[in-house]
Amino acid sequence: MDTSRNKYAMRLLWSLLAALLLGSVARAQTPNSCLDCHSALDPPYKVTGEQFSQDIHAQKGLTCASCHGGDPSKDDQDAMSKQAGFRGKIARKDVPALCGRCHSDGAYMRQYNPSLRTDQFAQYLTSVHGKLRAKGDEKVAVCTDCHGVHDLRPANDTRSKVHPLNIAQTCARCHADAVYMKGYSIPTDQFAGYSASVHHEALTVRGDLSAPTCTTCHGNHGAAPPGVSTVQNVCSTCHVFQAQLFESSPHKAAFESASLPGCVTCHSNHRIAHPTDAMLGTGAQSICTNCHTEGDAGYQAATQIAQQLDRLDTSVKGANEILDRAESAGMEVSDAQLEQDQARDSLTKSRVAIHSANPARVQQDVDAGLQIATKTHQEGASALKERDYRRKGLAWSLLAIVAVVIGLRLYVRQIERRPS
Ligand code: HEC
Ligand code: HEC
Ligand code: HEC
Ligand code: HEC
Ligand code: HEC
Ligand code: HEC
Ligand code: HEC
Ligand code: HEC
Ligand code: HEC
Repeated sequence: MDTSRNKYAMRLLWSLLAALLLGSVARAQTPNSCLDCHSALDPPYKVTGEQFSQDIHAQKGLTCASCHGGDPSKDDQDAMSKQAGFRGKIARKDVPALCGRCHSDGAYMRQYNPSLRTDQFAQYLTSVHGKLRAKGDEKVAVCTDCHGVHDLRPANDTRSKVHPLNIAQTCARCHADAVYMKGYSIPTDQFAGYSASVHHEALTVRGDLSAPTCTTCHGNHGAAPPGVSTVQNVCSTCHVFQAQLFESSPHKAAFESASLPGCVTCHSNHRIAHPTDAMLGTGAQSICTNCHTEGDAGYQAATQIAQQLDRLDTSVKGANEILDRAESAGMEVSDAQLEQDQARDSLTKSRVAIHSANPARVQQDVDAGLQIATKTHQEGASALKERDYRRKGLAWSLLAIVAVVIGLRLYVRQIERRPS
């Protein structure tokens, strides 16, 4: 009983000694008194080793002193003395210059990562955030609002605040907060709108990283509202064909002279929905009738284009339906089904062509689609005819078989009735 207790005490002593030894070796290698004290402090002074080890700066060998100054080898308050170059807390207004000190220095950054851009600070100064900050505004975004601090990760890390899937939330912290944004003249519905948009759906639901988030349209560091003349450039980086057609449309010059931005006048900027054919024509959901009235050329074009699309849509649907029926009846229509894909393509193209606001231009794609849909419809119809023909044939042969069976029965009975 006694000996085992002694053994236990000895083991405890040894492990304590070992821990002390190992601890002091580790400390001699990377003295960081800052972390030793600060991991034990309460917020906002708390910075733990676990947290800081996630930080890209720590991973690249930088320390607390790289940003705050001070002497991490002193383990008392001398660590934070003026003599040791300690700068203390970095005020919000000084953050961009602090980060920019390294990140604008091409020669310095190249030592670590030659492919990293070094224009973030310069760009930031041109943004609405940077300009207002220069005038003494303390509420606009500074580097740490978007990137975080002390566990700052590169953008391609999914946990980074600036990863494409997290960006909207990062901007929303201010831009969707009506109380925080009180006193500014801009709305606070961008995040709500964006969250309900086709772009948000494509990015988050379908995981399509080519769909835009806030910074795709506004720039990472030069965040500014696109001016009337540049909105369309934003959209056209991705929607090339719609932009080309809009360029050649009568709306290009008309919108410009009315100071209306291109695409977003019809689609909105943040709450972009799936467009429908009902946006054309003159019905309740038409957008053309927002500006055009009965009798003018735009109104006529709207009516005409809606009819063209309706005709092709009906024709494609009709062909779809008859081919599906033929297929489920077991007829071979795979070639026609393949052709039908082209008819559906033409319908899609026609919906792009509407951006010309020119019925003659839309007609080109509509005609191509109608031609194919008429053909595939015929192929579906003749497949069904063939089926009917085969059914009739089958019916006749069944009838013949039944007749033979009945005949045989009668014959057998006759034989049976004969007296033997
Ligand atoms: C002996 C413990 C100890 C050491 C070592 C230490 N700190 Fe501190 N530090 C504190 C305490 C406690 C505070 C809280 C406020 C105060 O007393 O100034 C603080 C405050 C700070 C602040 C906020 C100052 C302000 O004005 O709000 C920063 C930044 C800071 N320390 C960074 C560092 C850095 C960098 C190092 C290493 C070079 C370091 N500290 C080393 C204990 C320590
Ligand atoms: C890449 C630069 C950078 C590094 C490295 C860094 N900090 Fe900071 N730290 C900042 C900035 C910037 C702020 C101001 C916070 C803000 O803008 O929200 C700050 C704030 C602080 C504060 C003050 C919190 C407050 O609200 O009063 C403390 C304490 C602090 N840092 C300690 C540390 C310690 C300890 C380390 C090392 C483990 C460290 N920092 C590493 C940039 C850095
Ligand atoms: C003492 C110099 C220094 C300071 C000050 C500094 N950084 Fe860095 N930063 C670096 C280095 C070095 C790297 C690593 C680059 C690499 O290897 O990819 C880095 C990396 C980064 C990255 C990741 C880049 C990537 O995608 O690979 C971001 C983001 C970043 N820093 C933001 C900031 C912010 C925000 C601040 C201010 C709070 C800041 N940095 C302050 C030197 C610094
Ligand atoms: C309004 C939000 C915002 C602010 C403010 C901001 N950044 Fe960024 N930063 C981003 C986004 C978004 C990315 C890019 C993410 C990506 O590549 O998808 C980025 C990327 C970076 C990178 C990686 C290299 C690059 O350019 O792609 C560095 C380094 C960086 N920022 C430093 C800074 C510095 C330094 C400041 C302050 C002068 C700053 N950022 C201010 C949002 C911001
Ligand atoms: C720390 C809070 C904060 C964060 C985070 C923030 N912003 Fe801002 N932003 C502001 C404030 C405040 C203004 C000034 C409002 C004004 O322009 O009157 C502003 C202005 C803007 C403007 C100019 C609006 C105008 O028409 O004047 C744009 C665009 C913008 N921010 C985009 C973004 C984007 C994109 C993000 C995320 C990548 C972001 N902001 C993150 C606070 C923030
Ligand atoms: C598809 C591109 C696109 C995306 C994505 C986008 N914006 Fe915008 N944003 C615009 C356009 C275009 C304008 C200018 C509106 C105009 O002139 O009619 C604008 C205007 C703004 C403004 C100025 C004030 C206003 O509402 O007019 C702010 C602030 C803003 N956006 C923030 C954001 C934030 C935050 C996000 C992400 C949640 C975001 N934007 C996503 C294109 C976009
Ligand atoms: C970074 C590329 C990118 C930018 C910039 C962009 N979009 Fe998109 N857009 C997409 C992607 C990806 C989709 C999803 C495509 C899909 O649904 O198959 C999409 C979908 C759409 C749709 C719905 C299409 C449909 O068939 O339902 C409309 C309308 C649209 N965008 C309009 C705009 C407008 C207007 C702008 C400018 C304010 C814009 N987009 C900027 C990439 C972009
Ligand atoms: C005059 C109003 C108007 C303008 C300006 C406009 N659109 Fe459209 N857009 C529409 C209508 C209406 C539809 C719906 C067509 C349909 O589904 O029948 C549509 C459909 C779309 C679609 C999805 C359908 C498709 O396949 O094309 C995208 C993407 C699109 N527009 C992008 C843009 C872009 C980018 C711009 C700017 C270059 C733009 N639009 C300018 C009215 C407009
Ligand atoms: C934001 C207002 C606005 C919307 C929405 C709009 N237009 Fe226009 N449109 C104009 C203006 C302004 C003109 C040039 C003045 C004029 O001829 O009426 C114009 C001109 C036209 C023209 C040329 C007319 C001519 O005289 O040769 C056609 C065609 C046209 N629009 C069709 C459409 C169609 C189709 C839609 C719906 C998809 C539509 N517009 C939506 C404002 C608009």
